[in-house]
Amino acid sequence: MFVAHSHLPAMLLALMTTAMAGEKECDLVGVKGSESKREIALLKKLEPLVNLSFTTNSESENEKYKYIFRVCRETSNGNNSGLVQINEKTQKATVVGRINETHVASGREWIMLTYKGGEPYGSHCGNENRKAMVMINCNRKTLNGGFTLVVEEREKEQECFYLFELDSSVACPPEDSRLSVGSILLITFASLVAVYVIGGFLYQRLVVGAKGMEQFPHFAFWQDLGNLVADGCDFVCRSKPRNVPTAYRGVGDDQLGEEPEERDDHLLPM
Ligand SMILES: *[C@@H]1O[C@H](CO)[C@@H](O)[C@H](O)[C@H]1NC(C)=O
Ligand SMILES: *[C@@H]1O[C@H](CO)[C@@H](O)[C@H](O)[C@H]1NC(C)=O
Ligand SMILES: *[C@@H]1O[C@H](CO)[C@@H](O)[C@H](O)[C@H]1NC(C)=O
Repeated sequence: MFVAHSHLPAMLLALMTTAMAGEKECDLVGVKGSESKREIALLKKLEPLVNLSFTTNSESENEKYKYIFRVCRETSNGNNSGLVQINEKTQKATVVGRINETHVASGREWIMLTYKGGEPYGSHCGNENRKAMVMINCNRKTLNGGFTLVVEEREKEQECFYLFELDSSVACPPEDSRLSVGSILLITFASLVAVYVIGGFLYQRLVVGAKGMEQFPHFAFWQDLGNLVADGCDFVCRSKPRNVPTAYRGVGDDQLGEEPEERDDHLLPM
């Protein structure tokens, strides 16, 4: 035990140094601490894609190219390449964008990752450095899919770019799972009713020792209330008055109802 403890700081140190000497990551404009908070937050959103590598092929002017793209990691160690173009015929690799010159922006359902500082154009675009832009579109069905080259714009005098597309759920806004006020009230009410019925039932059964229907909490009260409601409804809803409730029917009423009949009997011709 003691040996393990004494080794712990050394192990931690080793872990930290390997982490620090690990792979290069996206470097945003600005020194550490003065980078854009929004860009840092966006890079965090892209983290699930970090260990993946994307490839796509394209053909143009009888040239065949393969593109390799990684999110905030080098495609091959050593020169910060985040997106490279490989000529299929000559196998010559050209860095299109570098992760040490990363820019990132987003909208509601997309994130645009830009790597600048690629190898300079030969004769196009004022010999500026190449630039890769990857439009990551929201698609809840996939973490990564559909990586393609959209266009290679190099007919401009400057600000040329390679534009790519990628589908990913990381670019999606958080799903709306907020409940309306009405449904929250309804759920609260239903829960309270459930607690009342179950709690009351257990109380009546275990503490009071009630049996059968009496196990329901305040059974007599609810029974009375039910009767009252029924009476009220009977009174309000019925269009024609039914026979007067038995409770109010006096003895005299019966006699009044029966006497004429009896008299009629007497009047009938024999
Ligand atoms: C990426 O892979 C490395 C090792 O290959 C691993 O340590 C790390 O946790 C992985 N990161 C993610 C986000 O999967
Ligand atoms: C740097 O990029 C070039 C492509 O321009 C590539 O040929 C070379 O192998 C890379 N360097 C390292 C050390 O990987
Ligand atoms: C990015 O990395 C490349 C190659 O490693 C280097 O030439 C370039 O100066 C770096 N860019 C910045 C802004 O540090």
